[in-house]
Amino acid sequence: MQPITIDSTVGDIVSADFRTAGIFEEHGIDFCCGGKQSLGQACEKKGLDASAILGTLSAATEAQTGASLDFACWDAAVLAQYIIDTHHRYVARALPLIYGHAQKVAGAHGANHPETIRIAAIFDTVKADLEQHMMKEEQILFPYITRLSLAARSANGADAPQFGTVRNPIVMMETEHENVGKDLESMRTLSADYAIPADACATFSTLYKELEDFERDLHVHIHLENNILFPKALALEASLR
Ligand SMILES: [Fe+2]
Ligand SMILES: [Fe+2]
Repeated sequence: MQPITIDSTVGDIVSADFRTAGIFEEHGIDFCCGGKQSLGQACEKKGLDASAILGTLSAATEAQTGASLDFACWDAAVLAQYIIDTHHRYVARALPLIYGHAQKVAGAHGANHPETIRIAAIFDTVKADLEQHMMKEEQILFPYITRLSLAARSANGADAPQFGTVRNPIVMMETEHENVGKDLESMRTLSADYAIPADACATFSTLYKELEDFERDLHVHIHLENNILFPKALALEASLR
């Protein structure tokens, strides 16, 4: 892998070595929707010492474990299917479960913890938005990416899609990622980083733990799409034209 510098983009750093994602999570640096910003810019925004973070990242990527999946080398069609099988399936299972818990906690604790009412309302939006979003990816964008990948291998060319160029749905998906990213940030702020209050019941604690897991998964999910799958699709389309 190329050495990491202050000018490397956050998305490229995570694409090259996924172990860096945890370090960015720890420092609240957005590597999925904010993947196009440089390491220097991201640190400046968060008031962090960029050279210290650079040192931590370099140390982490030098350690040889061989356990990290190198998604950047994967075929686009394989990656699209992997995203559906792991991240879309997880989101589809988690949405109704977390939604139920959020409603229950807002009902039981809303008087003492009004933030839970806001969180339940935001999650309601997240659920509706993500269900629509994943349907568009699974029914329109990802099948087209798979066709591009097959066409590139067979050298037959791909039919022009109804949406003109793959860039159009990609821009739409990236905007939707940004919106859901903002909703996740709002829930994190409202919950004071998912701090569990002293008077929380078991469902309350479960909800905050579930929301944190959900956020972590979505960051990886969006990273795989924005920083790896979508650039691959744009490159495939360009190579076929
Ligand atoms: Fe997705
Ligand atoms: Fe997406």
